Amino acid sequence: MKRISIMGATGSIGTQAIDVLKDNRDQFKLVSLSAGRNMDKLREILKTVEPEMVSVMDDGDRKALASEFPAITFVSGESGLDAIAADDSDMLLTAVMGSVGLAPTLKAIENGKDIALANKETLVAAGGLVMNAAKKNNVNIIPVDSEHSAIFQCLRGERHSEIKQLIITASGGSFRDLSRAELDNVTLADALNHPNWAMGRKITIDSATMMNKGLEVIEAKWLFDLETDQITTLLHKESTIHSMVEFVDNSIIAQLGNSDMKLPIQFAFSHPDRLPMDNPLDINALSQLNFKPMDFERFKMLELAYEALKIGGTMPAVMNAANEYAVDRFLKGEISFLDIEKIVELRMEEHEVIGEPDLETILHYDKLFKSNMR
Ligand SMILES: NC(=O)c1ccc[n+]([C@@H]2O[C@H](COP(=O)([O-])OP(=O)(O)OC[C@H]3O[C@@H](n4cnc5c(N)ncnc54)[C@H](OP(=O)(O)O)[C@@H]3O)[C@@H](O)[C@H]2O)c1
Repeated sequence: MKRISIMGATGSIGTQAIDVLKDNRDQFKLVSLSAGRNMDKLREILKTVEPEMVSVMDDGDRKALASEFPAITFVSGESGLDAIAADDSDMLLTAVMGSVGLAPTLKAIENGKDIALANKETLVAAGGLVMNAAKKNNVNIIPVDSEHSAIFQCLRGERHSEIKQLIITASGGSFRDLSRAELDNVTLADALNHPNWAMGRKITIDSATMMNKGLEVIEAKWLFDLETDQITTLLHKESTIHSMVEFVDNSIIAQLGNSDMKLPIQFAFSHPDRLPMDNPLDINALSQLNFKPMDFERFKMLELAYEALKIGGTMPAVMNAANEYAVDRFLKGEISFLDIEKIVELRMEEHEVIGEPDLETILHYDKLFKSNMR
C-alpha cells in the first residue's frame, strides 16, 4: 500500500486527488494533507477521509478543528507544511498554488519522499536546486501537469539521446480567438471562463495570458533535462493531445485523453503501474484535431518566459513572483488584463540577474516581488 500526503488538498488538483485516493482505497493510504484558508472545503473532505495529520494556514483554524476532529493531529503555518513534508508517507503531491510550495517540496525531497508535482511554480523558481536535491536523495519527481505527464508517458522506455523535441500543446485559454486589440476590454469573469478545463483561479488566468504555457516550458526543461530550443509549443484547441515527443527519426509519439486531471494524478500515484479508470476518451467521437503554430506576438507572456529561461539565474523566479503578484491584483479587480503582462515585463527589465542562486536568494526575490500580496 503506497502512503500518500497532499499539500493543497482543498484546491482543484487536491480535491481531485482525494477522489482518486477514495476510488483506490486498496492501493493508497492518505497519511496527511494541508489546506490554506478554505475551512468549509476542508471540513467536507474530513468527513470522507481519515488522515493522521492536517495542516492549515491559520492557528485559530487549527484550534477549532482540533476539538471537532480529536482523532487527527492538527498543525499550522509554515511549520505545519514542514510537518507534512517530514511525515512518513512515500509520496507527496504538491498541489498548493504558487511558490509557497518550494521550501516544503525541498524538505520532502530531503526526507526521501517521491514527489507528484502539480505545483509548477516550484520548478520555475528553483528548478536547478530541486532537481539536484532529487538526484542527491534518489527521489523520483513524477509530473502531474497533464502536458508533462503526457511527455513522461511518451518517454517510457525511450532513450534521452534520441529525443529531437518536446511539443507542448496549448488550448489557448479563455481568449484564444481574440486579437490583442480586443484584450483591452476583457473582464475578470471572461478570463475565468476556460473553454476546456475547470481549474483554480490563478492557473485559469495564467492560461488566458499564456504564462501557464511559459511556466510549463520552464518546468519541462528541468523535468526532462533538454535544451531550451528542444521545447516547442503548439496551439491545439481541443486539448485532446496532451503533448507529444518527436524523436531523431522524425517519429512523433503523442498521449491523448479527456480534459480530466484525475488521469495524470492517478498515474503519478500508481507509477510505474497503471490502474483502471472511469471516463474513457471516445476516440470514435473525435471528428477533428486542430493545430496552429504559436503566435509569440499575440501571446507575449510566452515569449517572456522563454527569455527568462534563456537568461536563467534568478530571472525565472522573478518572472514567476511578478506574475503571481500581478495575477493576484487582477483577481482583486485592481488592474486590467493587459497590465499583468506590463508588470511582469517591467519587473524583468529592472532585475539585475544573479547566476546560480541558492534557496535563500530565490526566496528573498520571491518575497520582494510579492510583498504587496495578501
Ligand atoms: N487545476 C489544474 O487543473 C492544474 C493543472 C496542472 C497544474 N496545476 C498546478 O497545480 C497547482 C495547484 O493548482 P490548483 O488549480 O489546484 O489551485 P487552487 O485550486 O487555487 O488550490 C490551491 C491550493 O493551495 C492552497 N494554498 C494556497 N495558498 C496557500 C498558502 N499560502 N499556504 C498553504 N496553502 C495554500 C489552497 O488552500 P485554500 O483553498 O484552502 O486556501 C488550495 O488547497 C498550481 O501550481 C497549478 O499551476 C493545476
